[in-house]
Amino acid sequence: MKEDKATKIIRALLQSPKGFVTGSAMARELSVSRVAIWGVMEKLREEGYEFDAIRNRGYRIRELPRELSAAYLNARLPFLAERNGIRVHNILDSTNNEAERLLADGQQAPLVVVTKQQTKGRGRLGRIWESPKEGNFYGSLAFRPRLNPSRMQPFTLWMGLTICRFLEEIGKLKPMLKWPNDIFCNGKKAVGILTEARMDADLIHELVLGIGINVSSAPKLKDIPPGGNQAVSLNEASGREISLNPFTVALLETLLEAYKVFHEDRYQEAFKRLWERYNLLQGKTIKARTGTAVITGMASHLRSDGALIVRHPAGETALVSGEVTLSP
Ligand code: BTN
Repeated sequence: MKEDKATKIIRALLQSPKGFVTGSAMARELSVSRVAIWGVMEKLREEGYEFDAIRNRGYRIRELPRELSAAYLNARLPFLAERNGIRVHNILDSTNNEAERLLADGQQAPLVVVTKQQTKGRGRLGRIWESPKEGNFYGSLAFRPRLNPSRMQPFTLWMGLTICRFLEEIGKLKPMLKWPNDIFCNGKKAVGILTEARMDADLIHELVLGIGINVSSAPKLKDIPPGGNQAVSLNEASGREISLNPFTVALLETLLEAYKVFHEDRYQEAFKRLWERYNLLQGKTIKARTGTAVITGMASHLRSDGALIVRHPAGETALVSGEVTLSP
């Protein structure tokens, strides 16, 4: 893909050892006039960048924008940007919808779609995912796994556990995964995952992993699931301000690597370790709703296909999907 000037400028600034690049060096590098560089810098300022401009030393990034910046993501993820693998939008109906449209259009996978805001963000079980334009992460990763559906069963759990590890590593958060795919911080929901697939009996052809993360704001849930999970943002839970653009780069790198490990069938050992560390339900009394049935029992262990085994006086039930709440 042909890189735009903003991406080239941001990359030059990020790569410069002392952070400074002069306007004339940028103009030379991009083969444009200094006036053209000035124009791009103004556009970047409007996007939320702040620059130091020092005589004889040039420009330096002082502050990154609070919202997603296509220039920043393209500059930091060249392996995706080069083959048009990352699409950054201001507004979309839903990143899952857009990823599905791109796959249906025959675009190369893996591809990533991120947006600042969604008008029809979708959650599990037909719910709405509130997606205001306030510095949160709304993104979808799209793949063509061409694996047997049985191989893919633990995929969403694996990605959820990977996100827990990622969040704990960035610091000051103790994330927990509530089976099958909600991530809680401080007892409130911070991350939701919606995996959708196009498959036949033998093969998963297309797979879209949609992730919503409350980074700086936690929308009031209009459409509260049974059990009334309240939402929290990572900023609130960690007591510090997470910078959305570097966060997004590190998250996408982590997720793409985790997909590779999963696809190559090398995930099992790490899965076990992560499950032991992040399983919110271990040994807890839970209430599970599957279709019309409600089961109350103790969350015991996982079956190899990712089903949650619940023990109750009448025996054991393997939950393959549904909504789980902690019983008081
Ligand atoms: C849930 O907890 O119910 C899952 C929520 C998933 C929300 C994300 S936001 C990005 C992607 N696009 C969507 O429309 N939904 C997912």
